[in-house]
Amino acid sequence: MTSQPRGLFITLEGIDGAGKSSHLEAIEALFVAAGRRVTRTREPGGTPLAEALRELVLHQPMDALAESLLVFAARRDHVVQVIAPALARGDVVLCDRFTDATFAYQGTGRSFDLEVLRTLERWVQQGQDPRSDALLEPDLTLWFDLEPEVAAERLAGARLPDKFEAQPVEFFRRVRAGYAQRAEGQARFERIDSSLARDAVRQCVADALKRRGLAG
Ligand code: TYD
Repeated sequence: MTSQPRGLFITLEGIDGAGKSSHLEAIEALFVAAGRRVTRTREPGGTPLAEALRELVLHQPMDALAESLLVFAARRDHVVQVIAPALARGDVVLCDRFTDATFAYQGTGRSFDLEVLRTLERWVQQGQDPRSDALLEPDLTLWFDLEPEVAAERLAGARLPDKFEAQPVEFFRRVRAGYAQRAEGQARFERIDSSLARDAVRQCVADALKRRGLAG
């Protein structure tokens, strides 16, 4: 019997229109080729309850505290039901957005109290990492970074915008600054230049995983 690999928690982040979701499949394929089992999921979402909360968060107007409580409620269910069990069995968890999005969108984007978000983060994530006693956090965050003006052009006409996608460029400037703040001095962040052509971006992601000894 081969020994079970250590679970790996990878998140994808970036402003709307930065193109992160289109790389999920290729990243999953890299890990599968390396013999790993992958749990692919997203936030808000990933469980029936969290998907129901996602609908509310993305489509109902509400203040930033209500939004933060709902995304963290969704996260709690997702962590307990899906992420922690997957990490415990040694999967690679590939998650489209996680807590960095809350700091960037609700925190910096909507100017909500970061201290409250840090408290909610502790409540929801402390003691939930089956691999350690530390706060459950991603091992790697791929931050797809793009100028908000370019992201807006890419989004235009693509589909009916949800509540966040309908925000002005100025909102996404703040969200982007929020990601930059979260990334500062944090080794788990890998900034990916999303202004490059899609194939070049995919290559950057593959190179980053390889450099970190994670896949390929
Ligand atoms: P997104 O991940 O972009 O999915 P899709 O590509 O299917 O639209 O949509 C999720 C939206 O929710 C996005 O606009 C960011 C927002 N969001 C928050 O505001 N806070 C959060 O904590 C999370 C996880 C997402």
